[in-house]
Amino acid sequence: MTTHDRIDKNAGTLPETTVVVKVPASTANLGPGFDSLGMALELYTWIAMSIAEKTVVHLHGEQTEGLPDGKDNLLYEVAVKVFERAGLAAPELEISNYSEIPLTRGLGSSAAAIVGALAAANALLPEPLPVEELFRLACTLEHHPDNVGASLFGGIVVAYWDGTEARHIGVQPLEHLESFVAIPDFELSTRKAREVLPQSLPLKDAVFNIGHSNLLVAAFCSGRYELIADAMQDALHQPYRARLIPGMPEVLAGAASHGALGAALSGAGPTLIALADAREEQGEELTDFLKNTMAEHGIDVSIRRLKPSREGVRVLTLAGNHRTFMETVRKE
Ligand code: HSE
Repeated sequence: MTTHDRIDKNAGTLPETTVVVKVPASTANLGPGFDSLGMALELYTWIAMSIAEKTVVHLHGEQTEGLPDGKDNLLYEVAVKVFERAGLAAPELEISNYSEIPLTRGLGSSAAAIVGALAAANALLPEPLPVEELFRLACTLEHHPDNVGASLFGGIVVAYWDGTEARHIGVQPLEHLESFVAIPDFELSTRKAREVLPQSLPLKDAVFNIGHSNLLVAAFCSGRYELIADAMQDALHQPYRARLIPGMPEVLAGAASHGALGAALSGAGPTLIALADAREEQGEELTDFLKNTMAEHGIDVSIRRLKPSREGVRVLTLAGNHRTFMETVRKE
C-alpha cells in the first residue's frame, strides 16, 4: 500500500512509515546581503512525521516549550500546504519536534521549522514535489529566501524571492570558516526589527550595499579571507537596527581586531555573528571580546562556536516510530 492509498482510503490506520528530518539553523544577510544571503549553521531542529488517526504534536526540549501541540502548530500548518499542493486532502498527522535553535533570536528557527515540515510532508507523498517547488513554497510562507534557502540547501545561499519566483545558487563555505554567535538573553521579533527600517534609501547607500554584497560573494567564491571584514559592512539595515541591540555597533566595529574575519547582525537579530578562520586559534580572544563588549552595554550573551552546515535539510530515516525519535536525535 502506498502513502497515497493510506491518505485516501485508510486514514484510520496508523502507518508504519515515519519520516525524520534534521534541519540546520541559518544566519541571514551576512551584513550587506539583506534578504539575499544566508548561511546554514551546525545547530539543528529535528522533526518526525507520520500519518495518524488524530493530529498531535509532541514537543521535546526547552526550545519548543509553549508551542501549540495541535493543528495550530506551525509544523502541521506547513505540512498541510504540501499535501494541498500535491492535490491531496490534508491528513491527520503525528509530529514530534526537538530543537536546539533558540526562538526569535535571528538564527532562523521559524525558517528551519518551515523547511523541516515541508521536507517531512514531502517525503510522505507518493510523488514528492521537486525541491525547487519546496523552495518557492518556503519563500511564500516565510518571506525570507536567505533563511529558508540556507536551511533547505545548506552552505551559503545567494537567493532572491520576488513574491512569485525564487532563485538561488549555493556556494560552499570556505574550508576553514567557522563562526562565533553571541546570543543575547532577550528576544526580538523579525516584525519589530523590520519596522525600524526606512521604506526608501539614499542611492549612495544602495550602491554601497550592492558593492559590498557582491564583493562578499566573490570573496567567498575565491577564498579571499582578507576581504571579508570590509565586504561585510552594511548601510541598509544594521544602522537602523542598532538602537534595538545595545553594544552591536561596538561589536561590529571591533570584532576584526579581535580575531574575526568579519561580523554582522545575524538575520533580524538580536544575535550577532562573527566569522573566523578556524586555523587562527583566536577563539578565546574573540569570545571574551563579544561577551565583554555586550556586558558593557548591560546585555548578557551566550556564545556558541558553530561551523557552517554544508548540508541542508536531511531525511534521516523512513522507518521507525516515535519511541525512537529522541534516540535518533541523540545518536546524531
Ligand atoms: N533578511 C531578513 C531580515 C531575515 O533581516 O529581516 C529575517 O530572519
